[in-house]
Amino acid sequence: MTILLLAGTGEARALAKALKGRDVVASLAGAVARPAPLDVPCRVGGFGGRAGFEAYLRDEGIRAVVDATHPFAEVITARTHAVCRQLGLPYVRLERPAWAAASGDDWVEVVGEAAVAEYVGAEDVVFLATGRQTLDRFAALDCARVYCRQIDPPEGAFPFAGGAFVVGRPPFSVADEVALFKRLGVTRLVVKNAGGDLSRSKLDAARALGIKVILLARPPGPACARVTTVDGALAWVDAL
Ligand SMILES: NC(=O)c1ccc[n+]([C@@H]2O[C@H](COP(=O)([O-])OP(=O)(O)OC[C@H]3O[C@@H](n4cnc5c(N)ncnc54)[C@H](OP(=O)(O)O)[C@@H]3O)[C@@H](O)[C@H]2O)c1
Repeated sequence: MTILLLAGTGEARALAKALKGRDVVASLAGAVARPAPLDVPCRVGGFGGRAGFEAYLRDEGIRAVVDATHPFAEVITARTHAVCRQLGLPYVRLERPAWAAASGDDWVEVVGEAAVAEYVGAEDVVFLATGRQTLDRFAALDCARVYCRQIDPPEGAFPFAGGAFVVGRPPFSVADEVALFKRLGVTRLVVKNAGGDLSRSKLDAARALGIKVILLARPPGPACARVTTVDGALAWVDAL
C-alpha cells in the first residue's frame, strides 16, 4: 500500500525517518530552494491543482494520505481532505498543538494579518517571522522599520519604507534570536501560531527581552481525523 506523506514541516521530516523503508512517497511544494533531504522517496512541486492531484493519486496507486503540511497551509489541506473523502481514501492530518502563552509572555492573538496594525505604533520596529509569501498582507503597517525573515535570498524589492530582509534558515537558538532582536531594536514580533519546539526560540527571546508578540491565529482547517504527534501518525499508519 503506497502512502502519500504531504511534507514541509519538521514533523513530516521526523515521520519520514520513522517510515523509512516502507512504501511511502513524500511530497514537497518546492517553496524552499534547497530543502534538506527526506528519508523516503520524495517528489517536489505542486500537483497542478485538484485535477492534477487526483490524477497523481490514481497514477501512483496512493492508498492513504498523511497530511503533515504546515498548520497555515490551508489550500493543500482543505483540498486533500476533500479529495480523499470523495475517493474514499484514508486521510489524517498531523498538526502539532498551537503555542499557548506562559507567565512572562506578552502575547496577543489576532485573526488575519490586517489586525496586526492595531498593535503597532509609529515608533515600533516590527520583526515579521511570517514568511515571504504573505508580506503584501502587512502593507497597512505604519511604523519605524520592518524586518522580514525568509529562508531564501530575496528576489524582489523590499516592500516597506524602512527596514530590510533578514535571510536565515531555521532552526535558530534563543541566544541567536536575542542577539538579532537586540541588534535590530525589535519592539514587536509577529508570528504565525505555528506551534512546535523547533521554532519557538523566537518567542523565548521575545519573553527575555520584553517584546510584545502578535500571533496570527491558525485557520480552523477541515473536520477530519487528526493526530498531534509523529507517534500518533505512526500508529495511524500501522492501523491501516
Ligand atoms: N504556510 C506557511 O506558513 C508554511 C510555513 C512553513 C512551511 N510551509 C510548507 O510550505 C508548503 C506550501 O505552503 P503554502 O502555505 O503555500 O501551501 P498552500 O497555500 O496550502 O498550498 C498552495 C499550493 O502549493 C502546493 N502544495 C502545498 N503543499 C504541497 C506539498 N506538500 N506537496 C506538493 N504541493 C504542495 C499545491 O499546489 P497544486 O495546487 O499545484 O497541487 C497547493 O495548491 C506546504 O507544504 C507547507 O507545509 C508552509
